[in-house]
Amino acid sequence: MINVALLPALHSHLAWWGLRQFTSDEAYFQWQRETLSPAELTTLHRQVEQKRRGSSADEVVFYNATTDPHILPVLYSQRYDYYLAIGLRVAARIGEGRSILDVGCGVGILTTFYARQYPDKTFVGIDRSPASIARAQEYAKVLGLTNVQFECLDLDETPPTCSSDLILATHALVQAEQDPGIPSRCWNTFERAGESQPQADFERRTGIGTRLDRLSALLSAQGRMVVFEKTRQLARRIPLQRALAARDLGLIEQPELIRYRLVEEIADDGPFYLLGRGKSYQLHWDESPEPDEGGPFDRAKLKTSSTDSDAPLYENHWPSAQRVWEQLHEKHLLKEATRQEPDGRQLHVELGQAEEGVYLYCANTLDQRQLVIVELARTVMLEAYYQEIVSGAP
Ligand SMILES: C[S@@+](CC[C@H](N)C(=O)[O-])C[C@H]1O[C@@H](n2cnc3c(N)ncnc32)[C@H](O)[C@@H]1O
Repeated sequence: MINVALLPALHSHLAWWGLRQFTSDEAYFQWQRETLSPAELTTLHRQVEQKRRGSSADEVVFYNATTDPHILPVLYSQRYDYYLAIGLRVAARIGEGRSILDVGCGVGILTTFYARQYPDKTFVGIDRSPASIARAQEYAKVLGLTNVQFECLDLDETPPTCSSDLILATHALVQAEQDPGIPSRCWNTFERAGESQPQADFERRTGIGTRLDRLSALLSAQGRMVVFEKTRQLARRIPLQRALAARDLGLIEQPELIRYRLVEEIADDGPFYLLGRGKSYQLHWDESPEPDEGGPFDRAKLKTSSTDSDAPLYENHWPSAQRVWEQLHEKHLLKEATRQEPDGRQLHVELGQAEEGVYLYCANTLDQRQLVIVELARTVMLEAYYQEIVSGAP
């Protein structure tokens, strides 16, 4: 559900902030080069890198730097389509809420949009980047907004005190983008064990545990919460969902996977969750892999040989490859190996023969699957791939 009626208002709001919508990388980077000096660009790239690898202090340095009035429009224009996707979805759910908290609000681009659209509701934006909060306060003042306040606060250090009946957390709670999440029990299943230790470790490593404890303590009995994070991979989605459920938050609606553009790059993000307190929300938390592009396995199609003589009979690089592998007929294993990778994941590879042909199957505990089937005459090719994988070649 999106509030399409607000689209023109959102475009003009983003333009007010100086943001431009680009569909071409070339045009975007040209504008970036025209606007920012080479020295500014070098510094920004360094700060982005440090943020990616570094501590929360590095992250604050980066977000502070983005608030410079001539850096801000250029940098945040990359997120233009993100603002459209999230702004319209959140606006459609502000509904009954009267006091709304936007956690990790940044410079307040979306917070000020919501405050403009809903003048009878009160908004509080919090963020740990002091320069972002200063910029948000300044721009809210210029916009003449009296229903929004911004406060510099690090949720990891200090619990917010305002009570709220709607909490918004969009790209704010799971900043640890490199964290792989929790591996599955074994290479041949997508299930995660119910053990509490890996979950506790994930919540501590990413900081999500403390953040959710503090936010859920603020939420009124009828309160709702919007959560949208970079947790599309199953290994991250499952622990996030378990963390939410453990704080007595249930699904009000089916979570939505969201695709948007970062100029030319496609971002597959989310899911977008609308959550409510208590047991009244009984929608099921889905812990299975999302539907993928592997497509159903069609034996009849497999037999018709492709016009490309190099093409395999069948190839699937998606989680659905596991179901196809399980259903191969008269499977006969030729060789297999299972090993522990340096990053902790377990990798399995096997070469086998089935009625459908000779197959190579790879699977790991971070939900990656690959199945290739070729004619018997091309067994040597799959053997070579098998050896490459077993010897750890890229
Ligand atoms: C990617 S920006 C997202 C901004 C905004 N929510 C949006 O959807 O565009 C993430 C923001 O979260 C803030 N943040 C991250 N961890 C935080 C914490 N522990 N306490 C307060 N703010 C935090 C960062 O400073 C940054 O401004």
